[in-house]
Amino acid sequence: SSKSGNFRGHGVAYPCDRVVETDAPTGKDDLIVITGAGGFIAGNLALYFHNKGFRNIRAVDKKPLYEWYQHVPGVENLCLDVSVEENCRRVCEGAVEVYNLAADMGGMGFIERFRVECLRSILVNTHMIEAAYRAGARRYFFSSSACAYNTLLQQDPNVRALREEDAYPAFAERGYGWEKLMSELFCQEYWAERGMKTFIARFHNVYGPHGTWDGGREKAPAALSRKVIESLDGGSTDITIWGDGTQTRSFMYIDDCVQGIDKITHCDDLIATPVNLGSSELVSIDELLTKVEKAANLKTPLTRHYDLDAPKGVAGRNSDNTFIKEVLNWEPSTSLDVGLAKTYAWIKEQYERRKAGKRVGIG
Ligand code: NAD
Ligand code: GDD
Repeated sequence: SSKSGNFRGHGVAYPCDRVVETDAPTGKDDLIVITGAGGFIAGNLALYFHNKGFRNIRAVDKKPLYEWYQHVPGVENLCLDVSVEENCRRVCEGAVEVYNLAADMGGMGFIERFRVECLRSILVNTHMIEAAYRAGARRYFFSSSACAYNTLLQQDPNVRALREEDAYPAFAERGYGWEKLMSELFCQEYWAERGMKTFIARFHNVYGPHGTWDGGREKAPAALSRKVIESLDGGSTDITIWGDGTQTRSFMYIDDCVQGIDKITHCDDLIATPVNLGSSELVSIDELLTKVEKAANLKTPLTRHYDLDAPKGVAGRNSDNTFIKEVLNWEPSTSLDVGLAKTYAWIKEQYERRKAGKRVGIG
């Protein structure tokens, strides 16, 4: 029978005009394909499915294997560029579920400067979704972003949390945000016109171990952790923050993120419907640094300097979790204090390994 998603992002229903067969639950031996798996979230997702007992996982990234954060045991690792159509066909061969997380992205330091690179990820999503469809995949997941929301609604640190319908009328983050919006549309039309079940999560700033912490693509939690470690190691009592420290964000711990991806992708009420996947614990960047200092067991806070010319992004951003709670009866719940303690410890270990000349992942 014909089905429709909720399509809260548009207020318009795009019912599927094909007959969609009821699919069997994905078996432990069915092939799960995960792109971007040499990176942060997809690498953790591969580990999550492996730990859940899935035995047929194909992990893909264009980075050479030695640069991947994680090599999950028993997983087939492919080093391929999925902005190339024929590679996507190879990657999706035999796939039952496809999780497309590959994207050229980073924190504000990257997406404000490299808008063309961000936009070019449209090739990844264009070719991956077609290849997944041709392969007969039963479920396709796409990682969208809170950067798809209308930036005019994010000009005040005391921001109203963003609801799914706030993406339209569209005024997304230049480059990166527009690519995400366009790729969301692909997901909606592959369902409406072709009957492939697609799922879209709008991630809000994700942090945790096995993510980028240096090199220019790192986001605020990892960047501030590294800066504290560098100050302590160098005997300095100073730290530089981008912006004036009043800008606000919510940060989601990686374990909540991978669990949320699984829940969303296996909920037919969310087919082709963008849904927030983020924490609703709003903090200012100044407060974030205070929490990092706590994770570092600092007795005396560092002296803060504010770089007002650095990339800042929007003034405030938070996730309204009404919709996800309504549908899944669940929301990300790891507190920032708990998540930061684990993240800080991991980054400190990486920093010390690098100093000792050992191999580390920095992305
Ligand atoms: P990441 O940079 O750690 O991982 C992305 C991976 O994709 C990288 O390893 C990169 O090499 C790979 N990649 C890029 N282009 C590729 C290509 N053409 N072929 C194959 N591999 C390619 O980033 P992440 O934080 O793990 O983000 C994963 C996804 O989640 C991305 O789509 C990102 O836009 C989205 N997202 C992340 C956040 C966040 O806070 N981390 C927030 C919103 C959305
Ligand atoms: N990266 C970084 N590094 N940000 C800093 C730093 C620093 O040393 N110091 C202060 N900040 C401030 C930034 O100026 C920005 O105002 C805020 O911390 C958050 O920056 P990021 O973590 O880099 O990014 P974001 O929250 O603006 O956007 C991120 O989240 C989106 C989803 O919510 C990005 O990763 C996007 O790619 C992602 O889609």
